[in-house]
Amino acid sequence: MEHHVKEALEELVTALSKARGLGLERLPTKSLQAISKMEEELKRLRDKTHDHGPEPGLSQVTSLEQLEQLLHSCQDCQLSATRKNVVVGEGSKRPLLMLVGEAPGREEDVTGRPFVGKSGELLTKMLRAINLSRSEVYITSVVKCRPPRNRTPHRDEIAACLPYLHKQIELLDPALLLCLGSTAAHALLNTENPLSKLRGRFYSLGKRKVLVTYHPAYLLRFGGSKLLNLKKQAWQDLQMLQREYERLKRQEKP
Ligand code: URA
Repeated sequence: MEHHVKEALEELVTALSKARGLGLERLPTKSLQAISKMEEELKRLRDKTHDHGPEPGLSQVTSLEQLEQLLHSCQDCQLSATRKNVVVGEGSKRPLLMLVGEAPGREEDVTGRPFVGKSGELLTKMLRAINLSRSEVYITSVVKCRPPRNRTPHRDEIAACLPYLHKQIELLDPALLLCLGSTAAHALLNTENPLSKLRGRFYSLGKRKVLVTYHPAYLLRFGGSKLLNLKKQAWQDLQMLQREYERLKRQEKP
């Protein structure tokens, strides 16, 4: 019985956190008190479940919906205490290409959607330049919760979130991955090499191909000749990506 109550509460709390992301923040005091009670009860049930063995975890997840549900109630690292929303990702559910950024920023935290701020605008333009739309690909980040003041995620936060990204990759099954920036590249390729050394060639991640390029937020930091040089490199990466994407697309079975 308690198991069903817990499941129902998990769903409600997930739905409320999504609603908060849609801007439904100003609820009447009574509703807010009811939500706090629900959260307390959920916490009690979660603690109890832990007393009696592990919750159904990541290894039992077999669908994207289950993964999203698990992530929306995730408390595996300290970022869960300060996030407004878990930013799971969005786009095609059968993508040929998956883009992996670093972590949500302020706009992403508020809306629950990946890459919707300034760097998201640039990312959308970069995709358009190679004839891709956001809905054709899947966009996510290594870390699904916003680090305070947009700081770089800590090692333990990346380590806590990485199994979720691997599960996401397994479920969405993209043939091609684009790492945006060094956090994604280091996490997925298990290296510490600087991005300038990693970009410009494909890597294998099992049966998948991985390309690395600059994070749009990094490109937005510069002007002048430095920016021109970075843009030129990013454009080379995008063209490599486009060629491979189109080759794979031609091979795809209908
Ligand atoms: N930067 C990221 O890496 N991810 C987002 O979702 C937004 C900005």
